[in-house]
Amino acid sequence: MFERLEMIPPDPILTLNQIFNQDNHPHKIDLGIGLYKNDSGTTPIMECVKLAEKHVVHSSKDKIYKGSNGLDSFCENLIEMLFQTNIDLKESGRVSAFQTIGGTGAVRLSAEIVHRININTEIWISNPSWDNHKDIFEHVGLKVNFYPYKSSFGDFNYQNMIECIRKIPQGSIIILHGCGHNPTGFDLTHDQWIEVITLIKELNLLPIIDMAYHGLAKGIAEDRKVIDILVNFVDEFFVTYSCSKNFGLYRDRVGALIIFCKDRKSTAKIKSQLSRLTRLNISTPAAHGALIVNQILSSKELKSLWEDEITHMNTRIKATRCMLIEAGKKHNTQYIFDNIYNGVGLFSMLELTPVDVELLRNEFGIYLLESGRINVSGLNHDNVTYFVSSIKSLKK
Ligand code: LMR
Repeated sequence: MFERLEMIPPDPILTLNQIFNQDNHPHKIDLGIGLYKNDSGTTPIMECVKLAEKHVVHSSKDKIYKGSNGLDSFCENLIEMLFQTNIDLKESGRVSAFQTIGGTGAVRLSAEIVHRININTEIWISNPSWDNHKDIFEHVGLKVNFYPYKSSFGDFNYQNMIECIRKIPQGSIIILHGCGHNPTGFDLTHDQWIEVITLIKELNLLPIIDMAYHGLAKGIAEDRKVIDILVNFVDEFFVTYSCSKNFGLYRDRVGALIIFCKDRKSTAKIKSQLSRLTRLNISTPAAHGALIVNQILSSKELKSLWEDEITHMNTRIKATRCMLIEAGKKHNTQYIFDNIYNGVGLFSMLELTPVDVELLRNEFGIYLLESGRINVSGLNHDNVTYFVSSIKSLKK
């Protein structure tokens, strides 16, 4: 029976890392998968996580199931952090959260619930976006369309984006990256968010805000501001939240689907549906990583340590962007790095062709996505000159 199956090409992001690990190139650089890397090119466990995990391991008395919405206190803590001044909305029963298997699990759950609400709903995703967005929504049977985000020169093309959004059919779903747009690194300004969200309200679109990089674009407080705008303008939205990057809990798979509804009644309905979908998919989410995040967000000391660590990561990413631009100037290749100036967060896209990307990999041991996306944090003082000079040699 199995011979009837078609072969599917391996996932380009996940397999790139495996190929990198097998490469013996002495100067190899991994700029592929979205992991925060420190100055020495590693992704150590965060200090706040080490402390919280110790506490969790010592204080846990059992490993019995939690409900299908996961750990309640984890969900409450996330809501509190994201909604802050609007926290009274929680009391009004309009906000709730479901623990998920990473941010991907939240995207998948949002896709399934949207499919249940209306199988004919159109999904609108930025071009480019994280490839899994398109794949997940298509996988559940929804039609995916794109709104432009990047111009052919590689810069952010807000005008094209807004003009396209104006024409999106009423009642469609729009996916927006809350911060640290993956893969471009271009985020909307406050005024642009207001304009986009006003339009969303006019067209009665349902926004899904992907928050996979909260804290790693402009900082924890700044990155959540889009939530305030949404709360003031629209009646309903989803946030697909990931704790993979900002808590460094990648393989522990912690995330949440946060739901903002019109009223308590809709919240109760959607929660019952999400419970059912979770039961069908995974029964109940894994608790360990959520217990760690919960411990950090519940303790004043650990939360402040977490904020310090995020600030440090953020500062390093910004400094690395500057270092890359400087190195580009020295090698007279600054034009290749033009877009790095305007980007935030882990990612930027270089205007390289797939052939360039392949040459970088095969000849120089430099790994990035075929689209030209680089993980900026993979660069450091030791490898930036090699990286820039390798790119320069391609462009001769
Ligand atoms: C990425 O975009 O590299 C990360 O979000 C990892 C992933 O799952 O694709």
